[in-house]
Amino acid sequence: MPDDRIAGWRPSDSDLFTTYGDAFVPRRREQIETVADLLDDLAEPHVLDLCCGEGLLAEEYLRRHAAGRVTLLDGSPEMLDKAAQRLARFGTRWEHVRADVHDRVWRCGAYGGVMTSLAVHHLDGPGKRDLYRDLYAMLVPGGVFVMADLVEPVGARARDIAAAHWDRAVLEAGGAEAARAFAQAQWNYYRLPGPDPVDTPSSVAENLTWLSEAGFAGVDLVWLHAGHAIFTATRP
Ligand SMILES: C[S@@+](CC[C@H](N)C(=O)[O-])C[C@H]1O[C@@H](n2cnc3c(N)ncnc32)[C@H](O)[C@@H]1O
Repeated sequence: MPDDRIAGWRPSDSDLFTTYGDAFVPRRREQIETVADLLDDLAEPHVLDLCCGEGLLAEEYLRRHAAGRVTLLDGSPEMLDKAAQRLARFGTRWEHVRADVHDRVWRCGAYGGVMTSLAVHHLDGPGKRDLYRDLYAMLVPGGVFVMADLVEPVGARARDIAAAHWDRAVLEAGGAEAARAFAQAQWNYYRLPGPDPVDTPSSVAENLTWLSEAGFAGVDLVWLHAGHAIFTATRP
């Protein structure tokens, strides 16, 4: 990747997210633990962390599994640096790759699991369908895909409630200062008029359908709060 910008995600977004992430991500600790719970029994304990950010999911996976390994992928050099600092204590059990999630060059390998948080909504519908097919091919039989991400509400009432729950979660986790930063940055996707060229979440039903169409079994919605969902799917 020749320049420092990835489509739609600016270095200032990384700064804001690393400062306020614990508040901006609803029930963040619960989400991290849920993702890790879903990856606890992998036959091949090598996991890809897609759009890893600061490496919080990777940290939890490596902390839980002494024989575990993680490949971290992100488009932002700043985020990869922060992840490297966080994971230094795990020695050689991780590696990182700089790539754009939209590209296909990185879509190879044989992983026991793939995890991702707050990134796949940057792909449009056809992009998600292709990604799910490619991830299926990148998993060993029995491999597990776990995705935490924004979802698109079907109706206006559900959108309003997602927006309100997200605002409340930020205030509860981060107090007035985080709530101000959240509002100022217009981070609450569900309060925006839309459509947005960068953030393009799909509905729960679409995600479940596309995962099944890609060949996954055990396709399920595990967790949902404030428009943030966790899905799981297993390659038979
Ligand atoms: C909201 S953060 C989530 C980070 C981490 N997964 C977490 O939950 O804490 C989004 C991450 O996706 C990365 N990202 C955004 N667009 C990307 C793209 N097109 N290709 C690769 N990474 C991208 C950003 O650099 C950032 O680290």
